[in-house]
Amino acid sequence: MKARVFSGVQPTGNLHIGNYLGALKNWVEIQGNYESIFGIVDLHAVTVYQEPAELRAKILETAALFLAAGIDPKHSTIVVQSSVPEHAELAWMLTCVTPVGWLERMTQYKAKSQAQETVGDGLLQYPVLMTADILVYQAAVVPVGEDQAQHLELARDIAQRFNSLYGETFVMPGTSLPLAGARVMGLDDPTKKMSKSAAGSGHAIGLSDAPEVARKKIMRATTDSQPAVDFENLSPGVLNLIEISKAFMGWGSQQANAEFSGLRYGDLKKKVADIVVSHLEPMQKRYAEIMNEPGYLTGVLKEGAERVSPIAKSTVQLVKERMGLYA
Ligand code: TRP
Repeated sequence: MKARVFSGVQPTGNLHIGNYLGALKNWVEIQGNYESIFGIVDLHAVTVYQEPAELRAKILETAALFLAAGIDPKHSTIVVQSSVPEHAELAWMLTCVTPVGWLERMTQYKAKSQAQETVGDGLLQYPVLMTADILVYQAAVVPVGEDQAQHLELARDIAQRFNSLYGETFVMPGTSLPLAGARVMGLDDPTKKMSKSAAGSGHAIGLSDAPEVARKKIMRATTDSQPAVDFENLSPGVLNLIEISKAFMGWGSQQANAEFSGLRYGDLKKKVADIVVSHLEPMQKRYAEIMNEPGYLTGVLKEGAERVSPIAKSTVQLVKERMGLYA
């Protein structure tokens, strides 16, 4: 039997090439080897206020981008978190075995709560809900970036605590990533990971950016005061452009060296822009087709929820039995 994978993305902001190269592309590559479930985690999104109409549109957009990027609904399940109520139901049961101190220690909670005037309880509960996403499907493999490693560690702690209180119930989600994706940095500031929420139009290349827009952003990317690519001495900005190209093309270091060594920065950027645009264009074409096919997307999401619902239901039933709950 194939091991089960779960991972999720929040339907907020604009998915960018960092999300693609760091996660989506990896998911597409592994989807045949696992029983994969990819969540659009809208309940996580509302831990901070979202404009309702915009959120609803983003959920569909995110699903369409998953498909356009190559997630194949025949192999993988795409599910909107709020359409399977067991995510939230299990989250409550897990909340009851989770010490508040564990949650207050989360670095993402500390960072996010600092930026809020009043801190919603959902922000504190965020990693418990994430734990529920994983455990409700008894997922053994959870491909996430470094920034979610602490949450994944917490998920294991919660699972372990539940198991030791109520008896073996949950599969322990593994921490090791099957295949690490690329870590793409901001074009305007190559010391910071490319982010969906960062301000500044030159920061990220959106998967929906028109070719001219993507090109312009790359041509303006931060480099350094040297004239040309010197592999002995790569500044973070130049390295980032090279890493983006390697990830899109599947090139190793030798090939990258052969392609880029000695290029003047203007020429490097043109070449990187060609690579990026040549990968975005077919994705955008598929995206437009998906969006223009009435009922297709909602059909995929409905089928996704139906496919995984029985797994979620049976986990929650087991948890209720273990805890002595009535239903
Ligand atoms: N918190 C994750 C992020 O922001 C998204 C997420 C929610 C997730 N639930 C998950 C990732 C379960 C992996 C597994 O990136």
